[in-house]
Amino acid sequence: MEDKRFLIAGSILSADLLRLGDDVQDALEAGSDVIHFDVMDYHFVPNLTFGPMFLKQLRKRFPEAVFDVHLMVSPVTDAIVDAFADAGASWISFHPEACVHTQRMLAHIKQRNLKAGLALNPSTPPQMLSYLWDTLDFVLVMTVNPGYGGQKLIPSCVRKVEEIRRMAVKETAGQVLIEVDGGVCAENIREIADAGARVFVVGSAFFGKKDRKAAMKGFEEALRS
Ligand code: DX5
Ligand code: ZN
Repeated sequence: MEDKRFLIAGSILSADLLRLGDDVQDALEAGSDVIHFDVMDYHFVPNLTFGPMFLKQLRKRFPEAVFDVHLMVSPVTDAIVDAFADAGASWISFHPEACVHTQRMLAHIKQRNLKAGLALNPSTPPQMLSYLWDTLDFVLVMTVNPGYGGQKLIPSCVRKVEEIRRMAVKETAGQVLIEVDGGVCAENIREIADAGARVFVVGSAFFGKKDRKAAMKGFEEALRS
């Protein structure tokens, strides 16, 4: 999977929550490479979502899936990271504003044998990453303010992707993945890919659609063009 040029990460925030397991199965069958799992605490963001018990159930049903846990919680603690690691996370990202010792938290995630990422709000400067490259596997660039699905992408965040890509090439020979989250759809995915992103979170433009296979085809065609 990691060799694929682009990865699609369907976000369960836009799934039918009353049939979450079946929706995840549908998304995987449609070709979602990663399942994006948004954790919100009504404090860091004005919304409340899923805890580790949901993830544990999903992991049980989908032992091979890649679960990408995006923590929008404050504070980020070892206990929260461990709870999601134990429940079956594959990747974990968090926001630096919610954690005093970001380097240590990233190292903690990596010690658990997971991919560690830092999530940047639209107003968070990329310079935040400057001394963290050695400890980072991916950067989650928010292209909307976190909290809800279905928002419109903020164009200045795509310029930030370009800047982070330049930094990542210089500092890590491009090893660090750039993932983009918020307002991604078939109409803008090509432009975001050109800016340097490799992983695309898609909520309303994928999970929110009835025909996930058709939605996936739309992304693939746009990325091929
Ligand atoms: C927003 C979440 C996103 C959300 C994206 O705070 O982090 O992952 O699911 O949804 P769309 O793709 O609809 O913007
Ligand atoms: Zn997210």
